[in-house]
Amino acid sequence: MIIKKSEFTISSPSIARCPSDTKAEYAFIGRSNVGKSSLINMLCNHKGLAKTSAKPGKTLLINHFIINNEWYLVDLPGYGYAKNSKTVRNKLEQMIAQYILQRKQLVNVFVLIDIRHEQQKIDREFVDWLGESNIPFSIIFTKADKLSPSKAKSNALLWMKKLEDRWEALPPYFITSAETKAGKEEVLDYIEQINNTLE
Ligand code: GTP
Ligand code: MG
Repeated sequence: MIIKKSEFTISSPSIARCPSDTKAEYAFIGRSNVGKSSLINMLCNHKGLAKTSAKPGKTLLINHFIINNEWYLVDLPGYGYAKNSKTVRNKLEQMIAQYILQRKQLVNVFVLIDIRHEQQKIDREFVDWLGESNIPFSIIFTKADKLSPSKAKSNALLWMKKLEDRWEALPPYFITSAETKAGKEEVLDYIEQINNTLE
């Protein structure tokens, strides 16, 4: 799929303030600093579309980007940033949970995982929660440029394999880099496939 047009639509503090149309939405979630905003910019070939930062905790609202006037990419705040106060963390977690559980237009959640690290408890708990809540999701490993291709692949496989202790059917996964644009076509084709089933 080719993204011809990508535009910022709105930042919302709750789903009540999200766009009121019924276009399909694909949300990006993961730990603070994992590369959600960078991935959105890479997929859209649009530098600066989503705001990125070397400092964690940049994205604090639900951000909608309209793609080809047809569907939305949604940039969510990261979870688990330890330097945020407990009050801020709780507020963000509630915002994310409300969006994921209640947003009818949401068709798929992409959970972003830094490919360099072993499976972290907070990510695993989030994935288990999505599974328990019957939310369709896929895994996107980010920052693959920081490892050799073979190490990136083995880390991703190991991470996925660990899910088997609890889950029978594993979600699709993608290995990406916002630097090299690796995985771009695969992720976009996957979105296109889902979009085609919705028509
Ligand atoms: P929050 O909004 O704070 O939750 O962060 P985020 O998940 O949106 O991360 P963001 O895209 O702002 O990226 C965080 C940092 O990681 C920035 O310094 C990016 O340049 C860097 N980064 C993101 N993706 C990649 C990647 O694929 N490769 C490399 N090398 N760096 C990346
Ligand atoms: Mg961000």
